[in-house]
Order: sequence, then structure tokens, then C-alpha cells
Amino acid sequence: MTSTAPKTYRVKSFGCQMNVYDGDRMSELLTQQGLSAAPEGEDADLVVLNTCHIREKAAEKVYSDIGRLRRDDGTVPLIAVAGCVAQAEGEEIMARAPSVKMVVGPQAYHRLPDMLERAKAGQRVTDTDMPAQTKFDALPKTRRANTSTFLTVQEGCDKFCTYCVVPYTRGAEISRPFKDLAEEARRLVEAGAREITLLGQNVNAWTGDNDKGQQVGLEGLIRDLAAIPDLARIRYTTSHPNDMTQALIDAHGEVDKLMPYLHLPVQSGSDRILRAMNRSHTVESYLEILKRVRAARPDIALSGDFIVGFPGETEEDFADTLRLIDQVSYSAAFSFKYSPRPGTPAATMDEQIAAEVMDDRLKRLQALVIEKQTAFNQASVGKVTQVLIEKRGRLEGQWLGKSPWLQSVHFEGDVAVGDLVTVELLQAGPNSLAGRLVF
Ligand code: 5AD
Ligand code: SF4
Repeated sequence: MTSTAPKTYRVKSFGCQMNVYDGDRMSELLTQQGLSAAPEGEDADLVVLNTCHIREKAAEKVYSDIGRLRRDDGTVPLIAVAGCVAQAEGEEIMARAPSVKMVVGPQAYHRLPDMLERAKAGQRVTDTDMPAQTKFDALPKTRRANTSTFLTVQEGCDKFCTYCVVPYTRGAEISRPFKDLAEEARRLVEAGAREITLLGQNVNAWTGDNDKGQQVGLEGLIRDLAAIPDLARIRYTTSHPNDMTQALIDAHGEVDKLMPYLHLPVQSGSDRILRAMNRSHTVESYLEILKRVRAARPDIALSGDFIVGFPGETEEDFADTLRLIDQVSYSAAFSFKYSPRPGTPAATMDEQIAAEVMDDRLKRLQALVIEKQTAFNQASVGKVTQVLIEKRGRLEGQWLGKSPWLQSVHFEGDVAVGDLVTVELLQAGPNSLAGRLVF
């Protein structure tokens, strides 16, 4: 039987970085309720599965994760399903999985403590309301932070790309107020953050009124945060090409703490497919943005997302995508097989692509990406650069950190997590570099 008064919890987050942020906030809420995090390797009394719905059999994965929570003696913890699968398929989960006692959507998890009280009293509770700003107002003010920490500044999406569930699971675009973000960032830095990554499904659509009452875009927030003395680095993700303003591009050339890295998904190199995806930009307009970004910050590392096998994608469309990757020379890229999401327009389009064709295209695309990634890393060999140390490496005396271009760098030395150190880059592979501590 489920224990009625859980003492320990574990939050398991899947999917995007925003889920990681949400998972941290749920942990803070549960700690505030008097629960403590279950030690590694030990069962927890309460398990929160913070799910992702963006691709591939998301719901099936949740059911198998729920099944795996059954302990050897047949008991189960108190189970809560949170995140985007909860939002999209909450009722079905409640009907199909009796061991789930709470279902909570991404905009309602601030009400978890109240739900927990009701679950302890034996009720099964669902909350998939979408009051996005209310959530942030209700969350604890004190923050925990790693050296590199996320800060959600914008949530939701109004773009309605035809393949994507985000507008349905996360709701409409909202920007959190400037003042709240300035305060939360300062608290994160007080708690030890040296790098903050500003998060949003369309982070560069963020807008707000600064402390002088002027309406500013993301660049205004970045310039304000850059004034925090102990904050060393600022990043942001994920951006949409249509919201890449010149003011934000200029900030890349002017704000030293803004790292030379831009994740700007394009999804496809074919205008025909971009139109069918409702991306509202073309390959040419995308390349023109990159040109301006590179003019502002010549050493910028560029990354992107790609979908292969969107309905109707021909071999020529796919060849256009490969050509684009070759031309841009990304430092990294994330690529996915198209996955029909229930309720999205693309799921019912004609000409769905066969699984073997998608597999083959994904393999070819990833081979090219690895080639580009390796070349980018090799071009860094010989540079002396700053590395922010995030954790210990696998080997004794080894440390792992990130270069300004978001490359993983490992090296040895008498240093500590959170140090910003100077490292000479000596050797490069596709996914990381080896370096030597200079000072
Ligand atoms: N199928 C495959 N990939 C998808 N993405 C979003 N929706 C889908 C889908 N239905 C990818 C896009 C997006 C990234 C976060 O996930 O590339 O940029
Ligand atoms: Fe999804 Fe498109 Fe919005 Fe990105 S811009 S979250 S892909 S709908």
C-alpha cells in the first residue's frame, strides 16, 4: 500500500531544459512542505514523473515508467505525473493507471502542496489549469542554484508550427515581468550561480518593461543581468528566427557576458517544407539573420534543430537540408525523426514518410552534423580560453566545464566547481575537448 504521509521525494524530469527548471521548482516546493530528497539509490515515498510530450510514444513511456516504480515487495510510492503528457493526456492517465494519485500540468504545479494534502487523505487529484503567471507568483522566493542554472523567462508559444504540441501543452506565449526576473536572477547568483541560461519556448519573443518603465526585448533583460557582479555568463535558448531582432543581435557584439553561442532552430532546408511546417521564415531569411549575427559576433557558435521525414519531404527537400547544414557549419545540432503528435495539423497530412526512409535520412544527417561538430572543435585547438567548471570528471583529479562556445572541456588541476579558469585547448573529439589549465 501507498504510505499516506510521504517523507521523501524524487522528481524525475524528462525532455527539455524547461522541464529541468520546473522539476527544480517542484523539488523546492516539496522541500518547503517538509519532505526531503530521497538519497541516490533509495526508494522515495513520493515520485513525480515530469514528462515530455514532444516526440515518440511519450504516453507509452510514462505508463512503462509508472510500472517500473512498483517495488520488489509489490508496494508503490505515491505517484504524481507532471509535465506535458499530464497536460495532454491527464484524464486518460487517471483512468488507465490506478497507482497515479496526482496529475498536474506545467502551469499548475505551484498547487502541488495542496494536491499532496488531498492525496494524503486518499483522493486522486487532477489539475491541468493554465494560469501561467500565477504559477511564478506562487512559487517559493528562495532558490537553489548550480554553477550553471536555468531561469524561465518566457513560456508557451503562439507560432503553431504544424508538427508541434507545445502551443497546446504549454499554452499561449507569456513573458514574466522584468522585475521578477531581475530579482530571481540575483537570488540565483546569491545561491551560487555563475552562469544563467534564460529559458523560453520562444525566449527571444520575451518582452517587458524595464526599471525605467521602457518596453524592452530580451536584450534589455540581458543588459540588466550583465550588471550583476558575480554573474559571469549569460546564455538563452530556444529562439525563433522571426523574433531575432537587430537589438538582440547587437547585444551579442556588445555584452561581454553574453556567450558567443546561438541556438536557432531552422527545422528544414527546404522552403516547401518550411511552408508546410508553418515556420513563416524561408531558408534565405534564416541565412540573412545568421549573416547579421556573425557580423556582430564573428566567433559565434551556431546550433539548430532539424526534423527529418516531415510529411511530403522528398529526397530533394532532404538534400536541401544537408546543403544548409554544410553551408552554416553548425557547432552542434539536434535532429529528430518526425513524430505525428495527436491533435496537430501535420499528424493528418497526406504523404507520411516511411520509418525506414526516416531512419536512413536521420543517419545521414547525423553523420554530417558529427563531421561539422568535429571540425568546429578541431578549429578550437590551440586557443587559450575561459572555462567555467561545472563538475568533477570521471577520472581522478579531472574537471569538466564549458567553453564560451558551449563545448565540454576536461582538464586536470587544483581548482573547484564554480571557478572560471583559463585553459589551453589541446585535443578535440566530436563531443568534447581536452585542455591544460593555464591559470
Ligand atoms: N516530431 C519531431 N520533432 C519535433 N520537434 C518538435 N515537435 C516535433 C515532432 N512532432 C523538435 C523540433 C523542435 C525540438 C524541440 O523538437 O526540432 O525544435
Ligand atoms: Fe513548437 Fe514551433 Fe512553437 Fe517552437 S516555434 S515551440 S516548434 S510551435
